[in-house]
Amino acid sequence: MATMVSGDVKDLSLADVGLQRIVWAERDMPVLRTIRGRFEVEKPLAGMRMSACLHVTAETANLARTLVAGGADLVLVASNPLSTQDDVAASLVRDFNIPVFAIKGEDESSYYRHIAAALKHRPQVTMDDGADLVSAMIFIALDRLDDLHPEVRSWAKKLSASERERLASNVVASMEETTTGVIRLRAMQKDGVLKLPVIAVNDAETKHFFDNRYGTGQSTIDGVIRATDMLLAGRKVVVCGYGWCGKGVAMRSRGLGAQVIVTEVNSIRGLEAAMDGFEVMPIAQAAKAGDLFITVTGNIHVIRAEHFALMKDGAMICNSGHFNVELALDGLTSTARAINKQVREFVDEYVMSDGRRLYVLGEGRLINLAAAHGHPASVMDMSFAAQALATEWSVAQKGKLEHVVYNVPKAVDEWVAALKLQTMGIAIDTLTVEQRKYLDSWEMGT
Ligand SMILES: NC(=O)c1ccc[n+]([C@@H]2O[C@H](COP(=O)([O-])OP(=O)(O)OC[C@H]3O[C@@H](n4cnc5c(N)ncnc54)[C@H](O)[C@@H]3O)[C@@H](O)[C@H]2O)c1
Repeated sequence: MATMVSGDVKDLSLADVGLQRIVWAERDMPVLRTIRGRFEVEKPLAGMRMSACLHVTAETANLARTLVAGGADLVLVASNPLSTQDDVAASLVRDFNIPVFAIKGEDESSYYRHIAAALKHRPQVTMDDGADLVSAMIFIALDRLDDLHPEVRSWAKKLSASERERLASNVVASMEETTTGVIRLRAMQKDGVLKLPVIAVNDAETKHFFDNRYGTGQSTIDGVIRATDMLLAGRKVVVCGYGWCGKGVAMRSRGLGAQVIVTEVNSIRGLEAAMDGFEVMPIAQAAKAGDLFITVTGNIHVIRAEHFALMKDGAMICNSGHFNVELALDGLTSTARAINKQVREFVDEYVMSDGRRLYVLGEGRLINLAAAHGHPASVMDMSFAAQALATEWSVAQKGKLEHVVYNVPKAVDEWVAALKLQTMGIAIDTLTVEQRKYLDSWEMGT
């Protein structure tokens, strides 16, 4: 009889529901299904030990199945304490024999114990969503053990100096899923401490044009509505950050009838928001006007104590950027007269000294994954197709890649987009010979 793989999930008896959800998501992921079919035959990842630190959702489960079909020996851990779908995690362990270390609502110690489990696998390929796995490897390789969480540090201390160094140097490549992770990894490269090759999957056009914009746009609003049941029509929604995610959140909020205010620090993005028809103003001004605040900047302390002090009674505040540092919740906690946790699921009430009540959704963690199910499968189909193909490409380049951040090869982006269009039943034109020649030439003018 086969023994079940190890892992740390909430409850294996949830696996039936998880399996249903994985299969449901799979229906809407035709590009990834095509890749899985080929991987089953070609086994491009055969024998590769792989650790993935991702939001454990039904869509991620289908990516995990694809990587395993390609021959990877995979361990999956959570990339956020609140984003795990416990039923999906249970099914991955029970039905797909994939070790998963992820529990929704896990505390910081459990989160880092799970990161340590990913490291103990001694991966040759890693996949990150926010760069927590790679940054732990870099701190270990640099012997900066004091910068590690105690759960990771206690394990790292047991390694010899050469084992610490090899943890990163054995990695063929690391894929990065999100904007914040790519920013951290480029900063490592700038500081000369990046000790492994990285592929910036987030920067693929088939990823951030669609996932960050349409995925975050829809699922953030979904998370807010599930957490609050609020009507957006007629409300003032303040979107902090008009990048790829912010554009999507602003667009979908307007679609539901909200009056949208955008805050920015980048003049081009601010101008773009203004010309897209949104009101643009500084956060100190928007703080007085908003009914709902959504941060999606990838930055720290975008909404601070001085802004909470200006907000209306009943204002709702949430974040859909990668880390919960976008809201300076310490400042809110220290100025609140009382904090009523979980006045309903995913909603904490802060009563201010003047009696105003402010509501923080999903503890300031990405609201679309904390209170809803994250991005729809149809858009993750493209992001995870790019992940699978970038992994295949980097494994084929084994030993040839330098310790820098690479872009996903253009051919991968074009292949994913073409197949996605085809599966949507949409045809486009092809260049005629004359058009191709014209675009390649300079002689013909007015
Ligand atoms: N919730 C999700 O599922 C999800 C999905 C994809 C990305 N993300 C995360 O969302 C964040 C944003 O990603 P993106 O792809 O939109 O990045 P982006 O770089 O395209 O946009 C970020 C924008 O925020 C602006 N900004 C920075 N500091 C600001 C401040 N103090 N006030 C106002 N605006 C500010 C920047 O000028 C920029 O225009 C990242 O942390 C990313 O990792 C979350």
